[in-house]
Amino acid sequence: MLITSGREKIATARKVAEIIDARFIDPEIKRFPDDELYVRLDTGDEAGIDDDVVLINNTYPDGDLVETLLLLGLLKDLGAESTTLVIPYFGYARQDKRFKAGEAVSACSILEYLGHRADRLITIDLHAPSVLDSFPGEVLDITAMHALANRFGGEGVDMVLAPDKGALARAETVAKDLQVEWDHLEKTRLSGTEVVMKPKELDAGGKRVLIVDDIISTGGTIMRAAGQLKEQGASWVGAASTHGLYTGGAIPKLRDACDLVVSTDSLESETSEVEIADVIADALSGS
Ligand code: R5P
Repeated sequence: MLITSGREKIATARKVAEIIDARFIDPEIKRFPDDELYVRLDTGDEAGIDDDVVLINNTYPDGDLVETLLLLGLLKDLGAESTTLVIPYFGYARQDKRFKAGEAVSACSILEYLGHRADRLITIDLHAPSVLDSFPGEVLDITAMHALANRFGGEGVDMVLAPDKGALARAETVAKDLQVEWDHLEKTRLSGTEVVMKPKELDAGGKRVLIVDDIISTGGTIMRAAGQLKEQGASWVGAASTHGLYTGGAIPKLRDACDLVVSTDSLESETSEVEIADVIADALSGS
């Protein structure tokens, strides 16, 4: 098996190759003066690739999506036996349905395009795994929740919360690993301007509470929840997410609202304390 990647995921791909003892092909990727991308894979063999290949790359930001498309095309062109595409952070995941008439269902369109060149797809904590039906080949959505739970093992967490009911399964996974209780937050509108967010069944009073989510984007959801949990008496609030987008300079604001903010390195940031490479390597080696 050969492993390669786009520029942003080189460190992750190298580490995966090391863990599963596969050969890593360093991609040559640069931009032409007009900013168009150039990609090349030096396989050391004029005849091309006579092996199964794993390509690890995000589809966010857009440049990485183009890189992924070019690399997938190149792998087919070089004769790869099969191509497994691993997307640590799948951009466009949240445009998973037509919210308004005439809108593109971007997640599904992109998966269809990727399916023309990739045989198998692995995603990580995909926002809405149902969109994987748009990918024609074999699909697998793996989770970083166990790895995140492991990071919070020594933090004395008493309760794990999902920001909404839809994310409860992720909170349950982390809570079971930490052997604590779990719940989801429920919003109650008190007036036109006042909304209370509280755990549906449990009481956060005096507890060390960890909120887990697939994506933190502006951080608004977590900041509101953390503020309200502290008002309800939580003694400590942590936030864990697989994908830390942190748009609009969210990290300092989140750190003001929470006692600890951790994400994986599916997207690199100062909070990327959990390496996604181990999670990917486990999936590739079937454990
Ligand atoms: C939405 O359903 C996702 O799971 C996240 O809760 C959402 O993307 C977080 O967004 P933000 O950080 O902007 O509140």
